[in-house]
Amino acid sequence: MTSVMPQSLADSNGFSHWPAQPGAKHAARKGQSCHAERSEASLHFFGNKCRDSFPDSLLPAAHGCYDISVPRQYRSTAPQAREPLRGSPLGSPADLGSTAQAVRTMFETVTPRYDFLNHFLSAGLDLYWRSVAARSLRAQLASPDSVALDLCCGTGDLAFALRRCAWGSVFAADFCRPMLARARQKAASHSRLVRMIGADALDLPLPDNSLDVVASAFGFRNLANYALGLREMMRVLRPGGCAVILEFSKVRWPVFGPMFRFYFAHVLPRVGDWISGAPGAYRYLHESASRFPDQETLAKFMRRAGFVDVRYRNLAGGVAALHCGAKPA
Ligand SMILES: C[S@@+](CC[C@H](N)C(=O)[O-])C[C@H]1O[C@@H](n2cnc3c(N)ncnc32)[C@H](O)[C@@H]1O
Repeated sequence: MTSVMPQSLADSNGFSHWPAQPGAKHAARKGQSCHAERSEASLHFFGNKCRDSFPDSLLPAAHGCYDISVPRQYRSTAPQAREPLRGSPLGSPADLGSTAQAVRTMFETVTPRYDFLNHFLSAGLDLYWRSVAARSLRAQLASPDSVALDLCCGTGDLAFALRRCAWGSVFAADFCRPMLARARQKAASHSRLVRMIGADALDLPLPDNSLDVVASAFGFRNLANYALGLREMMRVLRPGGCAVILEFSKVRWPVFGPMFRFYFAHVLPRVGDWISGAPGAYRYLHESASRFPDQETLAKFMRRAGFVDVRYRNLAGGVAALHCGAKPA
């Protein structure tokens, strides 16, 4: 792993921690004091070093990727907790931090079998869906200056699909270290130029207006608060940039619908929990997906968050849906 800051400290997983320095400012977020405080460790890097020339100053390491892991101290604040559209059912509704912690712990336990179970339980459709998502962004990824982020990247499959379509830079962010470590391993072994960031999707250590694409596959559903997630996506996108959300949705086909719902509610959680060795993890998948807004509702929330030209496409009759929206130019 190559570091671009001399004071980084590598831990046993090979991730770097950026020591916080008192007085650091997050120039991109003036006025958001609680964010600035929480993000301090990362802001030295992005705020001081890369803000004006992001991302060209983040030169890729020789082997094609590097990681920045930012330890986070979650705080629950009343204004955040009051934001509408609460997200993941884990944790306490009044405390974003408890949800984040519970989600992260759960994904830590499923990491070793995560890829296998994804492909097995979806009969390989998940890979196809991510590639549909990436291909839908070809126009935005066509420029060598384009910057794309796979948000909640997990083991990186969407980032790799974006990489195949992109002429510019691809970043991948997640707050679960084992997931990110696996993504990094995969990137290195396939020589894929994807840069990994340890970051919370609700508090990205990226400047305002810095990305052409923010895409998330099966990650958005797990955020502690969807309104805050959309707001953060909007913040980091450049005017005209696109947000893409690939998530489970509501199946519309009459016969297939009930069959799929039975499989999703009764077969998948049992098989998933058994193979992953993580009791409850795949029951959570069912629970969080069933509570996730349907196609129209998510589109409505994206519009409410300020996205324009919002549209969606059903995949496998609505097992998943691909939503796209643009930040107004
Ligand atoms: C179901 S996995 C999806 C992974 C990957 N995108 C894929 O397509 O397989 C959800 C991922 O979202 C990450 N995640 C959930 N909440 C997050 C947050 N607030 N910030 C960053 N990552 C988050 C989890 O750590 C996990 O790796």
